[in-house]
Amino acid sequence: MIMNIAARVLSGPTGLSEQELLQLLEQPPNPEWGDAALPCFVFAKSRRMAPQNAAAEIAEELAQVHGVQAEAAGPYVNLKLDPAVYAPALLEQIGAEDFGRLNLGQGKRLVIDMSSPNIAKPFGIGHLRSTVIGAALYRLLAETGYETVSVNHLGDWGTQFGKQITAYKRWGKDEELAGDPIGESLKLYVRFHEEAEQDASLETEARDWFRRLEEGDPEAQRLWRYFVDISMQEFNRMYKRLGVTFDHALGESFYNDKMKPVVEELRGLGLLEESDGAMVVRLDDLDLPPCLILKTDGTTIYPTRDLATAIYRKKEMDAERLLYVVGAEQKLHFRQVFAVLGKMGANWASQCEHVPFGLMRFEGKKMSTRRGKVVMLNEVLDEAVSRALAVIQDKNPDLPDKHMVAEQVGIGAVIFGDLKNNRSNEVDFSLEDALRFDGETGPYVQYTHARIKSVLNRLQGQKTDGEAGRNAEPDTGPQQQIAEGDTSLLGDAGWSLLKQLSRYREALERAVDRLEPSVMARFALDTAQSFNRFYHHERIEDGGPLRLRITELTAELLARSLYLLGLHAPNQM
Ligand code: ARG
Repeated sequence: MIMNIAARVLSGPTGLSEQELLQLLEQPPNPEWGDAALPCFVFAKSRRMAPQNAAAEIAEELAQVHGVQAEAAGPYVNLKLDPAVYAPALLEQIGAEDFGRLNLGQGKRLVIDMSSPNIAKPFGIGHLRSTVIGAALYRLLAETGYETVSVNHLGDWGTQFGKQITAYKRWGKDEELAGDPIGESLKLYVRFHEEAEQDASLETEARDWFRRLEEGDPEAQRLWRYFVDISMQEFNRMYKRLGVTFDHALGESFYNDKMKPVVEELRGLGLLEESDGAMVVRLDDLDLPPCLILKTDGTTIYPTRDLATAIYRKKEMDAERLLYVVGAEQKLHFRQVFAVLGKMGANWASQCEHVPFGLMRFEGKKMSTRRGKVVMLNEVLDEAVSRALAVIQDKNPDLPDKHMVAEQVGIGAVIFGDLKNNRSNEVDFSLEDALRFDGETGPYVQYTHARIKSVLNRLQGQKTDGEAGRNAEPDTGPQQQIAEGDTSLLGDAGWSLLKQLSRYREALERAVDRLEPSVMARFALDTAQSFNRFYHHERIEDGGPLRLRITELTAELLARSLYLLGLHAPNQM
């Protein structure tokens, strides 16, 4: 928005269109230099002079323009907008109903594959990242005009069920399973892998059980259902705490009867080739290894299911964009699947997009699912909540609803601790860091929001029951006309805050364009920091309607960005 204003101001004197100027203008590396910097190399050509002379000339021409201060600095002109002239308009735009309403998606249906844990295997940290990043993207995309549909592509089929059933048949005890289904089935799972190292017959037995399952054997089916159900109960408990819902839970098993036509089509197109007894689609021309379609025993495999899945999402669900929020280690898998779709003549293969993310370590540990050295995620969440409760107890012992707020802050810390990172980066997650109320954390943003709410409450006697943010539309405060003269009351910190608030739209646009929730997390952090500087420098109560208004707008945008990231914004904490 600042750049738009700068482009408008410059258009007359430079003779360039606003569009052209927007391409040219840069953010000065140091905000003290100004709000926008215009590189003058293009003008050097047209004016036939050295760039620094062109810059000096343009700066001089701009001296006449009301509302800007221009200063040449080498080949650049640095521009400062005058708050007295622009603050009222900015305030009005930021407060307007349609501020932050972008229609990038134009109603296009977008199917997002997220979370997608494997049943009869523990929920891994990768699945947590997929859930949290996926949920944030889901909201960001919906916010910007996509019709979003989320699918939990549960790994509810595959050889692990053969293993689970084998372990159950050998060592399972119904009483113990009934008492602690998750813990017991995990123990069985771990024991299988330990004993299978000594005893090869276990693997054979497991393969046999999986074959029976695929053939529809009633006992195998019954046990499969049972293990699916207990895993789902545990997953749902976690989804609930994370505030994540899915439009569909369609596991891999859903595609069991949808793969044969795909395999037939591949065969008909002459794409299937034999390779060491298995059937593959060769992708040599694309410099990719062959995509495995049928194993030597004729059974289907992960890529086969993803082919059927993509076709289903396109044809039956009418998707115009298909996103897969899955760890970066599956990059090759998705390139292969999308390449096979392309070879099948699906002109929509280009609408499929893998949205990868990096590995996350918890307190330096890599989670290993097999060995049982698992950091169980519900336990991590419990720990986060109890630490949040301890901080709250210390800071604000009289807070009502302490436990609810601790849950919102503890879970929020985990979500934000993930999302603030560029998703492709590897993340070293530390609970202690994620929970710091004074660090770059979710609790810091939540705390800033709550602090604003209490200031507003004190000044306006506003009601602050309940909460803003997640599950609640931010409230729009009273609209007041702010006159030009008042703006001196903003001070430097207030003007910086106002400019920061105006970047919300750009942040939203960029987050959606790059499928990168961290852009929104960064916006929330910068806004909170900017507000805290303002709060430190200016007494809000002495600033008349202007300081109050900017404070209200800050609370609204903080609540909105927290909501988009999947965090609650408690009104008190
Ligand atoms: N269940 C898989 C895993 O844990 C992730 C599935 C991702 N989605 C997909 N359509 N392949 O590795």
